[in-house]
Amino acid sequence: MCGIVGYIGNKDSLSILMDGLKRLEYRGYDSSGVSLICRETSKIKTIKKAGKIKDLEELFKTNKPCKSNVGIAHTRWATHGEPNDINAHPHNDCFNKISLVHNGIIENYRTLKNYLIQKGHTFVSDTDTEVLAHLIEHFYKGDPMVAVKKALNRVDGTYGIVVLFSEHPDIVIAARKGSPLVIGKSDNQMIIASDASAIIAHTNQVLYMQDGDVAYITKNDIELSTVESNDALDAEFVEIEMTLSQIEKGGYEHFMLKEIFEQPDSLRDTMTGRLDKENGTARLNGIKDYFKNLTDADRIIITACGTSWHASLIGKYLIESYTNIPVEVDYASEFRYRNPIITERTVLIVVSQSGETADTLAALREGKSKGATVLGICNVVGSTIARETDAGIYTHAGPEIGVASTKAFTAQVMAFILLSIALGRKKLLSFDQGLSLIKEIEQLPSKISEILHDKNKIDSICRKSYKKKNFLYLGRGFNFPVALEGALKLKEISYIHAEGYPAAEMKHGPIALIDENMPALVIALKDSIYEKIISNIKEIKARKGYVIAIANKGDKILKDIVDDVIYIPETKEEFSPILSVIPLQLIAYKIAVMRGLDVDMPRNLAKSVTVE
Ligand code: F6R
Repeated sequence: MCGIVGYIGNKDSLSILMDGLKRLEYRGYDSSGVSLICRETSKIKTIKKAGKIKDLEELFKTNKPCKSNVGIAHTRWATHGEPNDINAHPHNDCFNKISLVHNGIIENYRTLKNYLIQKGHTFVSDTDTEVLAHLIEHFYKGDPMVAVKKALNRVDGTYGIVVLFSEHPDIVIAARKGSPLVIGKSDNQMIIASDASAIIAHTNQVLYMQDGDVAYITKNDIELSTVESNDALDAEFVEIEMTLSQIEKGGYEHFMLKEIFEQPDSLRDTMTGRLDKENGTARLNGIKDYFKNLTDADRIIITACGTSWHASLIGKYLIESYTNIPVEVDYASEFRYRNPIITERTVLIVVSQSGETADTLAALREGKSKGATVLGICNVVGSTIARETDAGIYTHAGPEIGVASTKAFTAQVMAFILLSIALGRKKLLSFDQGLSLIKEIEQLPSKISEILHDKNKIDSICRKSYKKKNFLYLGRGFNFPVALEGALKLKEISYIHAEGYPAAEMKHGPIALIDENMPALVIALKDSIYEKIISNIKEIKARKGYVIAIANKGDKILKDIVDDVIYIPETKEEFSPILSVIPLQLIAYKIAVMRGLDVDMPRNLAKSVTVE
């Protein structure tokens, strides 16, 4: 949430900053801006603009950036203060000698702002961030590091910041608490960013800053210490595996479409090296030291947000199918505001694509403080959640840039499939059962490819319904969470109101909404509750509802009952979400495109929600 880039080196900073910002635009796109230390004058020049990054570039034609080798840039997802030119970052002190970009929330900004106003500071924006610029100015007596640390010691809340000082044009300072920052180094240059995708074009050597770290950065060196102490820490760089092609569109019109089509491969990556046919089980080396905690658990609690929460609900159904361990699923944002019952035999599993979601991270810390073993299912390697959990399963879906999560969801479900089989083999599953599950898993990627290459039907269905105002998504059993996920996808990128419901719940209220203008998308696969869902469909048809069914190939009944059918291959009931979600992703995508919307940057959203 919010993208930050900083640069110090020998090259033209503006082009590197703008390239980085574009790669981070998925993190927020309300407004953007840059501050440069001008090479000729050593003065700070700040240019910022509400809107997308292209609007900032347009402004450069009239408000020309100076030549510079040091600068910072930001793309914003507004928290405090509406998205306008003035509230855009960077924010500066009273004399334009200090400029900073910030990701996070300064919770005590009102108190600090009142104090600084009394001291004579003039504020121009409504943001919490501007307080930081003035607070650093307040403490600045010639030593930038002292001023930044003193200011940060007065601040409550979260931050990832990068700061420029015009009087010190050969350094930038970066600090992190609660909002991720990564520093990349290559010959004679350092690039600081809120995630590695802005760095990868320049280097694969990165340092992940930890909470509390402050870095004093020159083009060749980093001095790392903490907010509380000046003792030097080791600046440990690691190699990242991400490649440039993974974070580019590769010929697709949108990242979301590319990521939908990547799913056969991303799922193969999730399962690579983890299918153990010899023992009819799954091998999860990342959690092997904690496996006994899981098999001995009195309860497993899974916590996550949004799409990851939907995958978690499928995870619960899977684990409970193959083991006798009770599983609960909690919204991470609710978890720590009630009294979750945790014993030392409770295992908490936190699920997150980004590994940076603030609510999920808070739930992780709550679980840890109460003594639970905390495991993660995470996509981003080295993310905060990945680091703070006791152990975990990486989903290996590759970078997900589209704001609407797609391949991360199927990879999370796959991680739960593997986990539930591994646990199940210690509980209720025989070798033969385990082996037959493993063999079926291997078929899933090619079954997804089949669905992806048979999309004409989806186009015609979307043309019929893209102007509708409301949609109902219905499913039962393993496909109830898929109905929730389908509805979420549609509403977040097409802005159509959509509700996901367990199909049989419909008669307890939502059935009142049914008429010919309300498409009902029903997942009606040949599974243990097929007959029941057919009855639910008939209830809708009796009320003149327009029904689109997701059915299994070979189904002869549904085509005569419903208005449109999308066929998908058969698989085991427990694995069906991985296939049934694919048409729902495509429907949301197509409808948003037909409505002329910006699929990869839907309004009001940001990819990784790092504020509470
Ligand atoms: C929906 C979506 C969000 C995320 C949620 C959690 O398409 O992307 O609902 O799933 O914000 O994010 P992670 O998984 O990064 O913790």
